Amino acid sequence: MFICGLFSSFLVIKWGIMDKIRIVGGRPLDGEVRVSGAKNSALPCIAASLLTADPVFLRNVPGKVRDVSTMILLLEHLGTNASWEGSALRLQADAIDEFEAPYDMVKTMRASVLVLGPLVARFGKAVVSLPGGCAIGARPIDMHLEGLQAFGAEIRIEHGYVSARAKRLKGAHYRFPNITVTGTENLIMAAVLAEGKTVLENCALEPEIADLIALLRMMGANISGEDTPTVTIHGVDSLYTAQHSIIPDRIEAGTFLIAGAITGGSVTVTHCVPGHLAALLEKLGKSGCRLDAGQNSVHIENHGQLHPSDIETHPYPLFPTDLQAQYMALMTQANGICRIHENIFENRFMHVAELQRMRADIKVHGHVAEVHGRTALSGACVMATDLRASASLLLAGLVAEGVTVLQRVYHIDRGYERIEEKLRQLGAEIERIS
Ligand code: EPZ
Repeated sequence: MFICGLFSSFLVIKWGIMDKIRIVGGRPLDGEVRVSGAKNSALPCIAASLLTADPVFLRNVPGKVRDVSTMILLLEHLGTNASWEGSALRLQADAIDEFEAPYDMVKTMRASVLVLGPLVARFGKAVVSLPGGCAIGARPIDMHLEGLQAFGAEIRIEHGYVSARAKRLKGAHYRFPNITVTGTENLIMAAVLAEGKTVLENCALEPEIADLIALLRMMGANISGEDTPTVTIHGVDSLYTAQHSIIPDRIEAGTFLIAGAITGGSVTVTHCVPGHLAALLEKLGKSGCRLDAGQNSVHIENHGQLHPSDIETHPYPLFPTDLQAQYMALMTQANGICRIHENIFENRFMHVAELQRMRADIKVHGHVAEVHGRTALSGACVMATDLRASASLLLAGLVAEGVTVLQRVYHIDRGYERIEEKLRQLGAEIERIS
């Protein structure tokens, strides 16, 4: 218990948990902004380093993103030797002596569950705190566990922890009843060291999964079928050292494109993969924004009226739930009614009440939100409830009249590297109040 208390107070100091962000709205953004590496690829790739005793080198890791630091801390807790060599993160799991991911770490970041597959695959045992619910939904991990059981793991749940044990996992055929991103990643990582052949069906298609597969293949894994719903893995006895560069963060890129649109600005987002943003670009084009996609950049301009364009969130390649809140803020500035269907998480409209406090006119009916625009938003003190909701409130603050103060900034730091500095670079009047 003393250790847990110490870890929490360490978080408060290290990560400025009490910080706020102050925004003065009304300035059109202008200029270029560079996207960081993808948080949702860095997390599984860091966990994958547990699959070998050799060093794994990861580049383009968003080191200032808090969830990434938490994952590195978790691996160090398990016994990994982690260090930065220049801009590369070096991870070596050659002295793993702990197999438990404690509640105090998992409760701050549910993606900690990604150590489950690699630990049981390489060491035959893992104990991970059950993540429990979060602001956006219940988010069970039943499919992760069902898949591991199909590989022959013995799964027990006790005292809030799941323990998985197996002499050696055995390849199997498993079909996900529903699409799950980290579920797909966990079972792929479990199967690469399993005995024999595994076929996973109805896999998620998010680009972060293909990125993980690229790393695992470089470590010597035998995998085929990335970017398709069916992934086939032939287990190997061991994996070895590798170097890999993490793909750009498409959600961060999308957030900056929406920042350019909502402020009536002219923004170029660089070091991104335009193809990963197709669903968003289609909607921004329909809403009236001018878009130019380059090889690894997208330029957006909005100097006119915005038109409403309905969205439905679905697994990739359709519209991502992680851009739903940001897109909602944009649609408060469109002339007419926009309907937003959230199909992935049952409670991902927490930002609505705060946007309404900024004078937005939004009505929620179950998992559909109806945004009535155009509304002249007014600045206010608002409270972040989760990562993407906080990005939505920050975007609303950029266009609102007067001052907006965003509280509980630690939510936004979980997924964006110093977002206020990048926005200031684009001409926003924004500052962090520590
Ligand atoms: C990943 O979460 C992302 N996180 C989320 O991003 C993202 O919102 C989500 O995928 C959907 O795109 C990371 O990659 C670290 P799921 P994940 O399993 O894997 C249900 C952000 O903002 N489900 O694909 O946890 C689940 O409740 C974060 O960066 C089960 O029922 O999401 C949800 O309704 C937030 N049983 C749906 O499936 C399971 O075993 C999809 O969840 C697993 C999931």
